[in-house]
Amino acid sequence: MHKKIAVIHGDCSSKEIVRETIRVLNKISHIYGCTFTYEKVAMGGEAIDLYDDPLPDHELQKCKESDAVLLGAIGGPAWDHMPKEKRPETGLLRLRKEMGLYTNLRPAKVFSALAKASPLKQEIVDRNIDLMIVRELTGGIYFGEHSITIENGSRYARDIMGYHEEEIERIGRIAFETAMKRRKKLTSVDKANVLDTSRLWRDVMHTLAEEYPEVTYEDMLVDNCAMQLVKNPDQFDVIVTENMFGDILSDEASEITGSIGMIPSCSLGDTKQGLYEPVHGSAPDIAGMDIVNPCACILSAALMLRYSFGMEKEANAIERAVEETLAADYRTKDIMSTDKIQAGCTAMANEIINRIR
Ligand code: IPM
Ligand code: MG
Repeated sequence: MHKKIAVIHGDCSSKEIVRETIRVLNKISHIYGCTFTYEKVAMGGEAIDLYDDPLPDHELQKCKESDAVLLGAIGGPAWDHMPKEKRPETGLLRLRKEMGLYTNLRPAKVFSALAKASPLKQEIVDRNIDLMIVRELTGGIYFGEHSITIENGSRYARDIMGYHEEEIERIGRIAFETAMKRRKKLTSVDKANVLDTSRLWRDVMHTLAEEYPEVTYEDMLVDNCAMQLVKNPDQFDVIVTENMFGDILSDEASEITGSIGMIPSCSLGDTKQGLYEPVHGSAPDIAGMDIVNPCACILSAALMLRYSFGMEKEANAIERAVEETLAADYRTKDIMSTDKIQAGCTAMANEIINRIR
């Protein structure tokens, strides 16, 4: 098996986690006999510095020609003052849109070895938190019209949130199918007491629910969901929601697991070609210090093997190695606690690589 991976090394401490993740993939290749070629792609701050554009066409093209895209994280203070067209985030949004990656899967699961790191009360964590957020990724307010104009001498800004029913239906279907493979419970999150997009969302979801009688379906308002996630997170199996609500709730969900530094994500469209990235950002404050946690990026590579390449046993080998490393008490700084062994980014990756069988 040979696969071509477009690799976006990203900005700030992202470069360190991507470097370690490639070493993990090389170990997989060594043991399991598959080969990976890596095509370096500049996107985000790096591309702005090189080309004055967060995602130039020639770099996007490399992603389109790959079997999957691996990304660390983009952005940092160096580009914060830039106008919108020249911000790192604009490159990422364009990449998602141009590759048609409308499904974003963000799992939030407590690693038993890290249960104490959760900011929630231990009695809540012990109830076993294991949920999946299915976030719509190429529609809604992120991709509506945006403008700042002058009206009667003062500035006025608008961001338009719109959804076509087809966009809702295709993400809804993915969510129901995801629930069918898990505990068969789906919570659709909206703000139907205020927004028309949410009323349409709810209507389409209800029609779909009739096709999936085995799935226990419920609607939940987004404000309530934000509260339920910290109060009673074990009630959730799969959550499906629109782009911006999903952005917000997935940060919340990942934090309650104890470390956002552990949570991978995957973005898919109609083909197997996907984009794999950690949920966390580029952590500029710790860049170059060899202390960033590489686990979320390494676990994103595991998702890539599973979802884009169909390499289930190789994916499991990575996930098991991460769990065994935690069980052997190795911790990066963000998940460190007393009596554990603190490891830097490279040392943590070494421990994981040594446990891949
Ligand atoms: C995420 C990030 C992005 C988003 C930013 C960087 C544009 O927060 O992937 O969650 O809002 O989608
Ligand atoms: Mg986010």
